[in-house]
Amino acid sequence: MTVKTMQTAEVKDLLEKVAGFNKEGGNERVKTIVHRVMHDVFQTIEDLDITPDEFWQAVYYVNALGQNGEAALLAPGLGMDKYLDIRMDAEDAQAGLAGGTPRTIEGPLYVAGAPKSEGFARMDDGTDETAETMILTGLVTDENGQPLANAVVDIWHANTKGAYSYFDQSQSEYNLRRRIVTDENGRYTARSIIPAGYGCPPEGCTQQLLNELGRHGNRPAHIHFFVSKPEYKHLTTQINLAGDEYTYDDFAFATREELVVDAVRVEDAAKAELFGLNGPFTQVEFNIQLVATDKSALQARHERKRALEGETA
Ligand code: DHB
Ligand code: FE
Repeated sequence: MTVKTMQTAEVKDLLEKVAGFNKEGGNERVKTIVHRVMHDVFQTIEDLDITPDEFWQAVYYVNALGQNGEAALLAPGLGMDKYLDIRMDAEDAQAGLAGGTPRTIEGPLYVAGAPKSEGFARMDDGTDETAETMILTGLVTDENGQPLANAVVDIWHANTKGAYSYFDQSQSEYNLRRRIVTDENGRYTARSIIPAGYGCPPEGCTQQLLNELGRHGNRPAHIHFFVSKPEYKHLTTQINLAGDEYTYDDFAFATREELVVDAVRVEDAAKAELFGLNGPFTQVEFNIQLVATDKSALQARHERKRALEGETA
C-alpha cells in the first residue's frame, strides 16, 4: 500500500481533536506534546506502511511492558537515558558548567534512604562467602583539586549474581547500598564485594524486544554513584570495571571512557591490614570532581519515581 493521508484535512483535524486543541482547559504543554507524538506515530505508520497486525502487536507489547513494570528498564536499552545525558552535557557546556567527573545514567534500580556513615562503610552483609572482597575508595575534590569534606557519596551496586537488593527480595535490606560522607580530607572508603554484570530478565519484555533487534541485554560489572554537596552540581554517575566482556558493549549505553576503572588485585598482607582485612582483596579507586554552581536546581538530583523515596526510610 502506498496511500498518503497525512496531509489531508481529515487527518490534520483528527490530530488537533486528539490533542484537545479545540477544547478549553487541560494542560497546554501536554496538549502540545501529545499532538506532536501522535503526529509522529501516524507519520511512522504512513511512511513504514505499518499493518493493523503490527500496530496491535505494539499495543499489546505496551500493555505487557507496563504489567511487568519494565518501562524504566526498556528506556535505557533504547538509548533514552543516554540521550537525556547527551542533552544535559550540551546544556552544561552552553552554560559554562562543563567539566568535573562526567555524568552517566542512573538506571532504574536506586533505592532511597540507605544507611549513612562518616568516611567508611561496609556495604555487604557478609553472606556471600564466595565473593571477592572489594575496597572502593576515592577522593572527592572541586575542579581545582581541593578536597571536599562532607560530600555525600551514595553508592549502589549488584551482587555476584548481578542482582540488586530490594528488587531481589532474597537479599537483606539495603545490602550493597550505602551513603558515605567524605571525611575531613575529602575521602570515602567502602568495603564491599566485586559485583557481577547485570542482565535483563530473560523472559521480560525488554529482552523480548532486544531479541527482535538482534541485541543482548547485558551490562558490564558496574557501580552507581550519586555525589552531592551544597553549592556543587549534583553528580549522577557510574564506574564500569575494566576487562568485563561488556565494558564497551553495554546494552544501556552507560559506559564512558573516563568512567572505566581498573580493579586491582592486592595480595600484600600489610595493605590488607590497613583496611582491617586478613586476606587478599581487589581495590577499585574512583576519584570524583564536582563542579561548583550557585544554581540550586542543579544541586539536587532530578525528580523521578524511586523506590522508598519520599518515605521515611
Ligand atoms: C538497567 C539496569 C541497571 O543495573 C542499570 O544500571 C541500568 C539499566 C536496566 O535494567 O535497564
Ligand atoms: Fe545498575
